[in-house]
Amino acid sequence: MTDNGSHSVSDIEAELLQTWQDNAGAWTTAVRTDQIASRLLVTNQAIIDAVLKRQPLKVLDLGCGEGWLAGQLAATGLSVLAVDAVAELTHAAQQQYGDKVEFATLSYKQVPTTLAGQRFDLIVCNFSLLGNESVAELLRALPPLLNDAGGLLIQTLHPDTLAEAQSHRDGWRRETWQGIGEGFRASAPWYYRTRASWQKLFTECYWQLADSTEPLHPQTQQPASIIFYLEPMP
Ligand SMILES: C[S@@+](CC[C@H](N)C(=O)[O-])C[C@H]1O[C@@H](n2cnc3c(N)ncnc32)[C@H](O)[C@@H]1O
Repeated sequence: MTDNGSHSVSDIEAELLQTWQDNAGAWTTAVRTDQIASRLLVTNQAIIDAVLKRQPLKVLDLGCGEGWLAGQLAATGLSVLAVDAVAELTHAAQQQYGDKVEFATLSYKQVPTTLAGQRFDLIVCNFSLLGNESVAELLRALPPLLNDAGGLLIQTLHPDTLAEAQSHRDGWRRETWQGIGEGFRASAPWYYRTRASWQKLFTECYWQLADSTEPLHPQTQQPASIIFYLEPMP
């Protein structure tokens, strides 16, 4: 904490990663026992469709969690490298999907240098861009990892339909894990951005928005998420 009691940048970004470490087991159970209804009903298939639409051969899954998406994409014949900062998650992923996916334990900070020289047709971030400065730093560093005509897919919470939007001002919020199962130990900080702020971030980090989709929840008819497809600025 800083002197005035607010979080310093590095404190809260470090806490974000620590909470994913603390909650890795509960998260793995929640995903693998289908505790998150919107994933089952909408967002899992939406991101799979968005990836396949771009017809990539080689995909980088950033913030892969327990590996479900990498596993699904590899099952369609794609070559997938999937990374996450949390070793417990990449180990769980390796156990379940390691026969067809390569997993590595890497933080976003480590990705650009550790993967330097590799090229992907598509980079996908499924609900995994949760920080503030760390996300901007990552976005700026990704273009060299893409082949020509490559792109970046980001699925994230929809900025306009969230209770967490509160005042519709950018800022840190807390995931309290309500309704998605047992065993979560600490609330997880995540950084809320308005849609305009996402757009500003993309521009500042030299990405252009080529497409966006808003998959609808079949029961509420509200967007369950937003999926951005970005290309590096020429
Ligand atoms: C909501 S989960 C999503 C996991 C997976 N993409 C999925 O769809 O189930 C967010 C993931 O992002 C990872 N993550 C967040 N910040 C990260 C960072 N700075 N470096 C690497 N992984 C990070 C977390 O460890 C966590 O596994």
